[in-house]
Amino acid sequence: MTQKILLTGGAGYIGAHTFVALHEAGYYPVILDNFANADQDTPARLAQLTGRKVDCHDCDLMDKAALDAVFEEHDFEAVIHFAALKAVGESVAKPQMYFDNNTGGLINLMGAMEKHDVKRIVFSSSATVYGDAEQQPIPETAPLGATNPYGLTKLMGEMMLNQMQVAHPDWTIGILRYFNPAGVHTSGLLYQSPKSGNNPPENLMPRLLEVAVGTRPHLMVFGSDYDTPDGTGVRDYIHISDLCRGHVLSLDALIRTNESHTVNLGTGTGYSVLDMIREFAKACGREVPFEMADRRPGDVGTCYADVTLAREVLGFEAELGLAEMCIDSWRESGQADPTT
Ligand code: WQD
Repeated sequence: MTQKILLTGGAGYIGAHTFVALHEAGYYPVILDNFANADQDTPARLAQLTGRKVDCHDCDLMDKAALDAVFEEHDFEAVIHFAALKAVGESVAKPQMYFDNNTGGLINLMGAMEKHDVKRIVFSSSATVYGDAEQQPIPETAPLGATNPYGLTKLMGEMMLNQMQVAHPDWTIGILRYFNPAGVHTSGLLYQSPKSGNNPPENLMPRLLEVAVGTRPHLMVFGSDYDTPDGTGVRDYIHISDLCRGHVLSLDALIRTNESHTVNLGTGTGYSVLDMIREFAKACGREVPFEMADRRPGDVGTCYADVTLAREVLGFEAELGLAEMCIDSWRESGQADPTT
């Protein structure tokens, strides 16, 4: 029988792309989303992409009764938990909101899983749990710490799940620490920045896109005095398709081995902001003006993944490079050549 997988935050950027990947792998994903940071028409676009009906529950994880009803209706094999607020700056200004939503949401979700005997979960964590890591590339064994409330909610999420597993040894947990997801599905039907809402992501790729389409005059390069080859910040950008394939492999591994894992999802290679500007300009065939600016508070100079464990435990290896990430990101403009 096809296995049903609950995707909390399944209408968001990573959730919707993972919906497609799970569908293609033969799973039956079911979406739960409160649409706080996602477009209402995402389920319809997913239906168009996959050619099937999309089960979607407009539900907030804070609403325990509604959450319970979703678990009553479906017999889930596992949960992939994406639903969370993710703006680092906002989390510094409104920590309580982040603790309430991200940590409270996971607490309710774990309660529903316990009640309905769902014992597998893949958790959307982040390289932010490494703080300002001394060791590069960063192995999963590096010291952990949070430099802002958003990061703290990810760290708390990992710790809470690990404690659940201590209490319930039959639970299996996949903790995936994402580096920097970039790009969109080649169909151009899914987005990184929701079209509705007034909370555009502050990340580099969406900003590059805004500059290329002309809604932002130039990119501010946050810091040119880091200890990196060109002085700008270095990150491990991973194509969204690779990242989502990592989720399918994580789920497969939990089901196959009944063992938990905590792994990095990255490519193992770091690129600077200037590398990204150059590659994005090539992908869209126009100039991307930029200006050097001060460092952004809380940023680290360098962050890229040690990918050894992902290879060993999940058989995961990123296949797509910077060119594909930039070409696919440019699709979001609606101005890309669909034949590329
Ligand atoms: C990448 C690089 C910036 C925008 C954050 C979170 C992390 C994760 C992903 C989220 C840095 C530089 C950026 C701009 C710039 N979680 N930059 N000008 O900071 O690595 O990670 O997002 O969901 O937890 O911390 O990603 O894309 O913001 O920045 O120069 O306008 O681009 O300084 O070097 P980051 P990012």
